[in-house]
Amino acid sequence: MKKKILKEVKNTFHQLYKTTPLLIFSPGRINLIGEHTDYNDGFVFPAAVNKGIFMAIQKSDSDSCKAFAIDKNKMYAFNLTSLERIPKGGWRNYIIGVAAEVQKLGITLGNFNIAFSGNIPTGAGMSSSAALENSLVFALNKLFKLNLSRSEMILVSQKAEHNFAGVKCGIMDQYASMFGEKKSALLLDCRTVTSTSYKIDFNNYKLLLINTNVKHDLSESAYNDRREVCEKVSEMLGVKALRDAKITDLEKLKNQVSEEDFKKALYVIEENLRVQQFSRAIEKNDVNMVGKLLYQSHNGLSNMFKVSCKELDFLVEQTVNNSAVLGARMMGGGFGGCTINLIEKSAIKEFKKDISKRYQKEFDKSCSIYEVKLAKGTRIINNV
Ligand code: GLA
Repeated sequence: MKKKILKEVKNTFHQLYKTTPLLIFSPGRINLIGEHTDYNDGFVFPAAVNKGIFMAIQKSDSDSCKAFAIDKNKMYAFNLTSLERIPKGGWRNYIIGVAAEVQKLGITLGNFNIAFSGNIPTGAGMSSSAALENSLVFALNKLFKLNLSRSEMILVSQKAEHNFAGVKCGIMDQYASMFGEKKSALLLDCRTVTSTSYKIDFNNYKLLLINTNVKHDLSESAYNDRREVCEKVSEMLGVKALRDAKITDLEKLKNQVSEEDFKKALYVIEENLRVQQFSRAIEKNDVNMVGKLLYQSHNGLSNMFKVSCKELDFLVEQTVNNSAVLGARMMGGGFGGCTINLIEKSAIKEFKKDISKRYQKEFDKSCSIYEVKLAKGTRIINNV
């Protein structure tokens, strides 16, 4: 699969631009636990996966840059001297966003051509956008010998997302995609932006993703709204971020904030504690606790932070009485995308059949189910 995509990217690049490219792979990510905690300076527990963006790049002698999105069969030409956010610009904003944010560092880029393709299901909440941003910043860094560190590169990617895609995201997706490690997840402290890696092996259990195949429109505006609420409450609490708040501090504010905002802030404080409990459960190989925390996280995301949707809730509810599933929750920003499930290996086949049927019956559409491998972060992959 990987070889096939790579070949296609390389060949397409050659046909379009008649030069031999540098090839980069940048992975998507899953997140074990810690949702909406990253922009609160808190903890998250993501892992890069073996699906992502494959990008070919080379310098260009022409007077503009060209980007070809193979999966969409769309070419976009742009000039490095006039980069501005394109309203509803989709993938193009990630590309020009990265180029613009690199230049904001005082770096003058030369023109370049790219072609890219991916195998992350779009809208799955597996950060295809961070993978695209990271693949380009990494590619530019190599091509023009910019000497940016991985830590500097993810900040470029994040700023592209803020200023061009318009989503005020945290650092989790870009970090996981850039720094991922084989068979491991990263317990990331989003304040210090440093992580500890944990080998992930749940013995007889496995992580399984179920994609609702929906992405409700609300997702971007609601994301920024949630961030604003968190910032407002932390300001009222007199702390830098909700990571610094205790539940007892928040309770003192109860009469000054709306019930909705109170619940949202409480969710963040609790979720941040859950991430730390989760890491201890992994250290102890306590899969039951891991599962329990997943359910608690979903409950908070759905009922307190209010970023779930009926499709995600349905998929999680369907697992509650299934003894082969230890835990499940929605993953990522919310309003669609995937649930992540911890399930007994021997029950996977039967479970897949059963949940697919139920989902189809309930929503008159199909869900998709993926088993993913935890993989290394952004890298050069020229040897095909
Ligand atoms: C999106 C954002 C991340 C993070 C998650 C929610 O994926 O890009 O920064 O906030 O949502 O945990």
